[in-house]
Amino acid sequence: MEWDVKKYNTTHDFIFKYGAGLLELLPKEPKKVLDIGCGTGALTKQIAELGHKVTGIDQSLDMINQAKESYPDLNFFLEDILNPTDQIETYDVAFSNAVFHWIPNQDRLLKNISEHLTANGQLICEFGAVGNVQAIREAFGKELNALGFPFEEPFCFTSVSDYRNLLEKNHFEVVEMMEYDRPTPLKGGECGLREWMEQFYADELGELTGGEKETVLEHMERDLKGKLWKESQWEADYRRLRMKAVKRYRGL
Ligand code: BEZ
Repeated sequence: MEWDVKKYNTTHDFIFKYGAGLLELLPKEPKKVLDIGCGTGALTKQIAELGHKVTGIDQSLDMINQAKESYPDLNFFLEDILNPTDQIETYDVAFSNAVFHWIPNQDRLLKNISEHLTANGQLICEFGAVGNVQAIREAFGKELNALGFPFEEPFCFTSVSDYRNLLEKNHFEVVEMMEYDRPTPLKGGECGLREWMEQFYADELGELTGGEKETVLEHMERDLKGKLWKESQWEADYRRLRMKAVKRYRGL
């Protein structure tokens, strides 16, 4: 899925605005930090302002170009953490907000992160937890099924216990980890839900004809109104998994 950089910075700016709380888990003393999936660099900038030496990476060239333009003094480059090049060095902290649920191969992700962390390096991250946007996904699945299409969830929304196991398997020790509800107001008034769908489920909607798409979105708005419409805006039923884990030596 391609991100529209302008919309990422405006309509969907909650993505990085909510990430600000995650910054509180960063060490207080200056560290060398890798911001994985930095997007347009807003959180990378805040990490730098906290005194860290930070590098932002993203696999979208549009995002990296925008980040470089907005924050020319910071270090950004195009990189896919699943296929790291030797541009990536070794860091004290790997930081990531709202990115890991896009990555199907979590084992490879954690292995690659571990390989680019110093001994006792930290992983500080947040992404969608099990049950994330559940009402929206159920309504979408129901509408796709009604049209004869399967709904295969493309995202990895996981739980504390499952992710703890995965981290431990990859030689990380969990320092803290929590799942929490984070109801998220969507911009755009009445159009907020459909604009969110058009961004986050663009590929699935792209498989439909114009008429089918309109039916799906109208039915979703009708069925979700009682649950997710709050006075003058849609509120998506986000759930987050937030964690800090430390890399341990193999076998210890
Ligand atoms: C999220 O950031 O929570 C999210 C991402 C993709 C699809 C649905 C939710």
